[in-house]
Amino acid sequence: MKWTGLNELREKYLSFFESKGHLRHKSFSLVPNADKSLLLINAGMAPLKKFFTGEEEPPRHRMTTCQKCIRTPDIERVGLTARHGTFFEMLGNFSFGDYFKEEAISWAWEFITKVLELPEERLWVTIYLDDDQAFDIWHNKIGVPAERIVRLGKEDNFWEIGSGPCGPCSEIHFDRGIEYDPDCKPGCDCDRFMEFWNLVFTQFDGDGEGNYTPLAKPNIDTGMGLERLACLMQGVNNLFETDTIQNIMSAVSEKAGVKYGEGEKTDISLRIITDHIRSTSFLVCDGVMPSNEGRGYVLRRLLRRAARHGRLLGIKGTFLTDICAVVARENATAYPELTEKLDYIQKVVGMEEERFAATIDSGMELLTDLIEATKAEGKTELPGADVFKLGDTYGFPIDLTREIAADADMTLDEEGYVALLNEQKQRARAARAALGDFGWVGDSFDFLEGQRDRIHRLHRGSKRRYRYRYYRFRKQRILRFRFRRKGYRYP
Ligand code: SER
Repeated sequence: MKWTGLNELREKYLSFFESKGHLRHKSFSLVPNADKSLLLINAGMAPLKKFFTGEEEPPRHRMTTCQKCIRTPDIERVGLTARHGTFFEMLGNFSFGDYFKEEAISWAWEFITKVLELPEERLWVTIYLDDDQAFDIWHNKIGVPAERIVRLGKEDNFWEIGSGPCGPCSEIHFDRGIEYDPDCKPGCDCDRFMEFWNLVFTQFDGDGEGNYTPLAKPNIDTGMGLERLACLMQGVNNLFETDTIQNIMSAVSEKAGVKYGEGEKTDISLRIITDHIRSTSFLVCDGVMPSNEGRGYVLRRLLRRAARHGRLLGIKGTFLTDICAVVARENATAYPELTEKLDYIQKVVGMEEERFAATIDSGMELLTDLIEATKAEGKTELPGADVFKLGDTYGFPIDLTREIAADADMTLDEEGYVALLNEQKQRARAARAALGDFGWVGDSFDFLEGQRDRIHRLHRGSKRRYRYRYYRFRKQRILRFRFRRKGYRYP
């Protein structure tokens, strides 16, 4: 197996599946299109769901993509480990009622052993417990020895999300050597076996309650993490040491005057900034703006976290905009839009960084004093009232307070904080009610009865418009009442 760069791997994969009759499609946006179940695209198959369910006709029944993905549930772990990241690319080949297991397995094997030249003796596969068909193909057709085919249960080898198309899957693992653990097998959490490609045989329609009906035309959905594959092909253990990502991290190192590998704390900050600037450059490029809710909040949180770690590294002033340019450069072949929209991306990132700098300067000083004072009292829990004040009066984000406190081995009085937050919400509600005409926001909608149903039918799915309509309706009612009281006829 030959050292291969991340951009080259992406190209090799897509052109291989093109040669197998697949339509190569550009990565879809990170913002899901007409899919309310997802905040951000988190898998290669996510933008293609309607082709799998048959709701929409695909442009071709075989497609291949390298999809930008963001997953944030592990955000707290990013930086602490060498494996976690919020942004990654997923390589995938898909069949919508076209080919099935035999081709999916054969082509996967051909790609990794002939194109990538991975040594066969280091490859293991897992299959679903009773998937004898997959066993037969792997063993009899491909020639993988039976002892390197491991049967695992539903948790590992059956892929489904809620209801809809689902099915058993087969994962391909790379054996990194007995020096990691002489006795283990795929399915173990140790570092010896690295799972890098998941072949899903979507052959059932699940009702979400454990009942599965075979699909007339089964599908194929495969997913392989590009960064993980790059780790494997470049012989590194750490996604931040793969070529293009390392180049981004070097730019951060240079700004900070800190070398990677010099210290644990500085390495964590370097990894956090590198990961977050990748996610945020792509998010802004796809039209997401920083805000306090939904995907805008994900963006804001990532940007602010990156900015804070810049400060921890001693970087003075704003610096993230310069790193955006490096992200664009490293991804220029697959994502030329990053370069085309670089000015815009830098403007959005720069504005948020500046806004955050102002907030953090005042908040950080207060929080440092608070931590010192609490420590001096011999306590390890920051009082709820002070934590609340930091957010409420100084706009300092609570998750940041939590993180900084954790860095200092302290916790927050979460209960006290939540109680004050609820009190504040009630006060706000009461204040709105006192505004009379404008007191509609938190009201019950019950008295509208028939009206409400009518409005709801007309404006299904749009809470804001629904509220606006309700507001107009109520305003008219009040005006009518006032006019009548004054003896006028309401028009
Ligand atoms: N949907 C599967 C996954 O996300 C394979 O693409 O792993």
